[in-house]
Amino acid sequence: LTLSLAVVLFLTHSGTTQTVIPTYAHVDAVMSVTLTCSLCPPGTYMHAFCTATKDTVCLSCPTNHFTQFWNYLPKCLYCTNICNRNQIVKEQCSPTRNIVCECKEGYYRLHDFCVKHTQCPSGFGAKQIGTVHRNTECERCPRGTFSAVVSSCARCVNHTDCGQLPVLLRGKSWHDNVCTACTDLKDGTLLRDVLQGFFSHAKLKMRKLSRFVQLLNHDGRPDRLQRFTLLLDVKSWIVTAHKHQLAKLPEILRISGLRGAKGKIDRILTQFEKAYRFCKDI
Ligand SMILES: *[C@@H]1O[C@H](CO)[C@@H](O)[C@H](O)[C@H]1NC(C)=O
Repeated sequence: LTLSLAVVLFLTHSGTTQTVIPTYAHVDAVMSVTLTCSLCPPGTYMHAFCTATKDTVCLSCPTNHFTQFWNYLPKCLYCTNICNRNQIVKEQCSPTRNIVCECKEGYYRLHDFCVKHTQCPSGFGAKQIGTVHRNTECERCPRGTFSAVVSSCARCVNHTDCGQLPVLLRGKSWHDNVCTACTDLKDGTLLRDVLQGFFSHAKLKMRKLSRFVQLLNHDGRPDRLQRFTLLLDVKSWIVTAHKHQLAKLPEILRISGLRGAKGKIDRILTQFEKAYRFCKDI
């Protein structure tokens, strides 16, 4: 099957482009002359060189093969079988194009690799959410906004407007305004949530954090010295601790050498104490 004729027909038929078929120079060994011959269009390869009497013979690429450009390749190129790690197939192999791979959700291209989007820590939100081409850009949550989660796509959100309710705890970059609704204070969940949030956010020194967990566990040594597991210990302690035990947190922090954290927890507990008294009077 000679495709060169089909190509010419196609081009005149479509009529939109006056594209001249690209050519190449071929030295005919028999005639010892240099011929100017048509290249083969994308999706085909050169089956036979032109001769003095016949133009190039092009054939379609077989399955799983492609040529993207006008060519006189003796064979079509083989399509890449699979995409790399952390990539998905954006476009399957076609006669005119190799398989197109793209980074999967949550990843972006950096040089030849797909790299996970940066996660913004609590207190920071995604200013620009990452795409397949660009990493997530984090920003410190501006005044009046917060982000309580570690996430590559959560933005900083406005602090809750307490409206008529008194503000029990003024929001920071890592936690929301806590409004005093007395019904919310009854079971102590709110205080436990704030305390847990504090420990997730605080950058406590490992050695001191480990000592602190040891004291919480009555000198039981934590199993593993990893920040993640230590924080889990702290959180599960907070969930189960009685109110009078929570009140001892500042003292335990002080003994552990975590003075900065002690000050902050002191203030949180004081605010909650005030609110509890306020609510009792109502
Ligand atoms: C957040 O607060 C700002 C300033 O108070 C306000 O202009 C904006 O509309 C708020 N955004 C939302 C989503 O409520």
